[in-house]
Amino acid sequence: MAQEFDVVVIGAGPAGYISAIRAAQLGFKTACIEKWLTPQGDPALGGTCLNVGCIPSKALLASSEEFEKIAHHADRHGITVKGASFDLGKMLARKDGIVSKMTKGIEFLFRKNKITWLKGHGRFTGEANGLVQLEVQGKDGAEVVGAKNVIIATGSKARHLSGVAVDNKIVCDNEGALAFDAVPKKLGVIGAGVIGLELGSVWRRLGSDVTVLEATPQFLAACDEAVGKEAFKLFTEQGLKIEMGVSIGEVKSSAKGVQIAYKSSDGKPQTLDCDRLIVSVGRVPNTENLSLEAVGLAVDDRGFIPVDDHCRTKKSNIFAIGDVVRGPMLAHKGEDEGVMVAEILAGQKPHIDYNCIPWVIYTMPEIAWVGKTEQQLKVEGRAYKSGQFPFAANGRALGMDAAEGFVKVLADAATDEVLGVHIVAATASDLISEIALAMEFKASAEDIARVCHPHPSMSEVIREAALATDKRALNM
Ligand code: FAD
Ligand code: NAI
Repeated sequence: MAQEFDVVVIGAGPAGYISAIRAAQLGFKTACIEKWLTPQGDPALGGTCLNVGCIPSKALLASSEEFEKIAHHADRHGITVKGASFDLGKMLARKDGIVSKMTKGIEFLFRKNKITWLKGHGRFTGEANGLVQLEVQGKDGAEVVGAKNVIIATGSKARHLSGVAVDNKIVCDNEGALAFDAVPKKLGVIGAGVIGLELGSVWRRLGSDVTVLEATPQFLAACDEAVGKEAFKLFTEQGLKIEMGVSIGEVKSSAKGVQIAYKSSDGKPQTLDCDRLIVSVGRVPNTENLSLEAVGLAVDDRGFIPVDDHCRTKKSNIFAIGDVVRGPMLAHKGEDEGVMVAEILAGQKPHIDYNCIPWVIYTMPEIAWVGKTEQQLKVEGRAYKSGQFPFAANGRALGMDAAEGFVKVLADAATDEVLGVHIVAATASDLISEIALAMEFKASAEDIARVCHPHPSMSEVIREAALATDKRALNM
């Protein structure tokens, strides 16, 4: 007889595996269908995030940052290092070791929570006897399971450009770009978004001459303008060549390298020759061979599965979460949706404030923000005040050789409620959590300013920026 479950989750990325764990914690008989295979052909949990996304990219960002500090910045501390070098094979093996530790960790969590891992590709086949029917195509054949509730967490895949074939050796998306077997002498990147800047930074630090080609005229258009300007200045000073407003033409690749024809912002034809190319022009939701139609569902015109504020599709017992639905394509957004849906199934009343989801770009310095940008507030016609404070005036930042960047606080002109905070700083990814918490509690800029912050610490700059909204920063 076919196996039956209270909850079947399709996809074990951060959205799906967290949702499965929360559902199991709440007492549901839970299964998770996952088809991912490692390059060695072994089944793996964790999805894009753990296998070819957040975790491996952050490992390489940390290794390349260590190298850059030792090779180029140690002298600022009076430390002389001669002939610093690195072993790329070892660096990649360290990254792979972290990935494997983390994905094995989820296997342990599945066993601990008694979650059944159905290995293979899942798709809907219909409904019978009040249960959604799913087929799991594994390496040893197909199995059909029944589910009272289904949570779709099939994630996303890299968007490719038409006419630009990705072989993940010479022309790469995120998968190939995390595993170059040698440091390219010349590296081209199409798209100055999050992946282009993070992975472009990794290979630049390791010695590549990196050129980033971006279609839009404005750098990091989703960020607050002040942040975009500061980041552009800092990244180009670091050696990233960034060309804005380009239009990509023909891309020719061979075993030896790539030639990219493009028009620069003034309309002039240009060519870029490089050894390797990263194509990082966004991601698209993944619903391949899911057979949504078998249960009366369909994707919208952008390929996302339509859901309401609680991630419910138009079928009351089928939900969708993470990158496959609207909202930012971020691991922690998917995790929160996964928890929310499991709790809704248990009769609880959870809720996500999407305005309080933090963003982080893990360059150096890092960029992080929560809430509205100044441009957005202007468009909304909201009366606001702004306070900005630089890390250059903070003793801890100077001591850490991390004096680049600033904190900018935007607060409502009348109520003082914090509307958005934008940080450029070495430790922005950790600093931003204080703001997410403050905004969840609808804090005012004065609330933040009245909280005692440890001295000396990078977090003092947040307090100073909050004070600056009222023109009373203390150390400026
Ligand atoms: P995914 O992680 O894509 O997982 C979906 C899973 O579903 C996959 O394992 C897939 O195999 C499986 N699946 C799909 N269809 C089926 C099917 N029919 N049957 C069985 N299994 C199926 N986000 C951050 O928040 N912070 C970061 O630092 C960050 N860094 C990133 C770096 C890179 C290079 C990339 C590419 C992405 C990064 N992201 C980051 C984005 C983050 O990885 C995604 O937002 C996150 O992985 C989405 O989670 P998900 O669970 O929705 O989907
Ligand atoms: P992105 O959306 O961040 O950036 C893509 C960039 O490519 C944009 O600036 C866009 O204008 C540009 N572009 C699009 N088409 C182009 C063309 N034809 N020619 C030149 N430029 C073009 O997408 P990216 O970097 O691929 O990352 C995908 C997603 O993955 C991110 O949006 C984010 O959600 C997630 N991610 C998150 C990270 C984090 O949280 N730190 C790290 C990496 C990825």
